[in-house]
Amino acid sequence: MTNIAILASGAGSNARRIIEHFASGTLARVVLVLTDNPSAGVLNVASQAGIPSRFISREQIAQGQPLLDALEQAGADFVVLAGFLRLVPASVTARFSGRMVNIHPSLLPAFGGKGMYGGRVHRAVIEAGAAESGITIHLVDEHYDRGPVLAQFRVAVAPDDTAATLEAKIHALEHAHFPQVIEERIRDLQLRG
Ligand code: GRF
Repeated sequence: MTNIAILASGAGSNARRIIEHFASGTLARVVLVLTDNPSAGVLNVASQAGIPSRFISREQIAQGQPLLDALEQAGADFVVLAGFLRLVPASVTARFSGRMVNIHPSLLPAFGGKGMYGGRVHRAVIEAGAAESGITIHLVDEHYDRGPVLAQFRVAVAPDDTAATLEAKIHALEHAHFPQVIEERIRDLQLRG
């Protein structure tokens, strides 16, 4: 059984899907939700699901060791960034090399990097007149949005799409695919021992 920790800063709709996806199986389970935002909706998601959750400050995250300690205390061996807005320091990404994934709401490398998150990404896609957008699920290294890509899924941008309608399409794509890609990665890791 793989123990998953989810790091999230916002509403937590992806976290909810991931928790539900693994709740009934024996492959993996979510053991901890960590957030850098004390008013994040993801805290309600965790409590409704009966999953332990913790606040961790941006300073503690930047230091690395407090974040490692929280993950270790929960027995986490796989980490999912689901709308997490802080940079994870190299000491943590190195410890979880190949076992930490992020989701980004564009087709990386397009519309990624520092400061590109949430509505900003969708506004930039609309302003650029892109014909399509999508999601990227990738392994995490010490840079924003740069680790090896595990999967991408595409969606057409309609001429009348706004940042808000595009965001809704992207969220639907995330909910449909993110838990499954996490599952496939964990299966691969378990097979490799
Ligand atoms: C998602 O669009 C994700 O790709 C981005 O932040 C959003 C988080 O949404 N990184 P939610 O908190 O899971 O609802």
